Amino acid sequence: MKLARNLTPDIHWGKQGIAQLNTKTQITVAKPAQAKQLNAYIHEIFATSNHLITHASEYRMGPWRRRRWIARKLVNSEEICLLAVNNGDIVGMIDCWTDRRKRVTHSTCFAMSVKSGWRCKGVGSLLLRHFIEWVKAHPVLERIELHVHSDNSHAITLYKNFDFQVEGTRKRVVKYEDGRVVDDHIMALWP
Ligand SMILES: CC(C)(COP(=O)(O)OP(=O)(O)OC[C@H]1O[C@@H](n2cnc3c(N)ncnc32)[C@H](O)[C@@H]1OP(=O)(O)O)[C@@H](O)C(=O)NCCC(=O)NCCS
Repeated sequence: MKLARNLTPDIHWGKQGIAQLNTKTQITVAKPAQAKQLNAYIHEIFATSNHLITHASEYRMGPWRRRRWIARKLVNSEEICLLAVNNGDIVGMIDCWTDRRKRVTHSTCFAMSVKSGWRCKGVGSLLLRHFIEWVKAHPVLERIELHVHSDNSHAITLYKNFDFQVEGTRKRVVKYEDGRVVDDHIMALWP
């Protein structure tokens, strides 16, 4: 079953209830034609984020593979890739993936990011709110899961704002190049 694929601009309400109008930032579903642009965006994210597992030098997906990846998201109704787009530029992304085995298909896992110059402006909250609404309206999905490094306080604040709860922790599983070792939290929401 195909669900709403056309999402509109929206208002982000901060924790303090202050409306932040994102009139120019639109949340859209990724299209295969955006593969090259999306790859450039993802490469920039890996190069500017200190809290991800993949290092920029390890990112190898070319435009054709990315194109197929987007096309598969479009035909798999339990998965979606949402983009935050401002004046044609991709400034944020959420993508979710779902195990097809029936016993766990009600649970989807997601990853998200916002372009470095666009962080702390509400784009992440806008994306996440659209994604949660999409899951809420979904006939099968019931649970949303994510993984976050324990030192990623920015992301953890965002997830807690939306009532995600820490369900478990993998201890000392991430080792950064400078020797720091951190935990990996599994957080979940039943929207
Ligand atoms: C995590 C990320 C997606 C958040 O996106 P964003 O657009 O900056 O999020 P928002 O602007 O909606 O801010 C979310 C909240 O974080 C808070 N925040 C900002 N910087 C923070 C920090 N250093 N520590 C704690 N909270 C912080 C904001 O105040 C806001 O809370 P509020 O609405 O209660 O005021 C973005 O920082 C990012 O892409 N980081 C790099 C990639 C990454 O870490 N992805 C997540 C992997 S699990």
